[in-house]
Amino acid sequence: MRRTRIWMGTSNDHKYMEAREVLAEYGVELERLDIDRVEIQADDPELIAEYSLRVLDVDVPILIEDAGLYIDKYYGFPGPYSSYALRTIDNEGILKLLEGETERGARYLSAVAFRDGDTGVTFTGEVTGRIATEMRGTNGFGYDPIFIPDEGDGRTFGEMKPAEKAGISHRARAFRKLGEWLREGQPTRRGAGTGTGLSRSSSP
Ligand code: IMP
Repeated sequence: MRRTRIWMGTSNDHKYMEAREVLAEYGVELERLDIDRVEIQADDPELIAEYSLRVLDVDVPILIEDAGLYIDKYYGFPGPYSSYALRTIDNEGILKLLEGETERGARYLSAVAFRDGDTGVTFTGEVTGRIATEMRGTNGFGYDPIFIPDEGDGRTFGEMKPAEKAGISHRARAFRKLGEWLREGQPTRRGAGTGTGLSRSSSP
């Protein structure tokens, strides 16, 4: 299977732009379906993305991404509640939760579930880092002003140019795997443990 034009179901401009840039490196043109997806309550972003995709009744090659911020000190919170936490306590609230804390480790996770007809696959990406002590930078979106990636130079994602974030971000990592898979036209490995008919590829 070789596809060069696929769709992403999302209402988030930033996620779409970041994903589109990455897939363009693989000759894949990403179109957008502006939808509010259906989300289940689960801890695992792969299950959330796969469910949202499964209940999406469209007949084009399409993907759904689920992402979130997982803070070590709070056992992964906000994780699957990342959008809710942003809408309610926002970055100021997260900073308050960690006020005076030295343990500030966190990670972003991204899961991308893709379907083309009967073929489905899921890829994940991760970036580890720590929560800053104050908001810095106006680039990116969401938690970017408070997230300092380990692989960076101490700046938050909010202080980085889009290309710098794309070099190491959770989203870019997951989408690069999808880009490679699409470019190589790999055969599907079906039903790998998800019960969804989707196969998984979560290697780093
Ligand atoms: P979603 O459920 O995948 O749309 O993402 C959950 C929440 O995490 C959203 O409110 C996003 O703003 C936030 N989020 C996801 N990815 C990123 C990112 O790359 N940077 C900053 N915030 C993000």
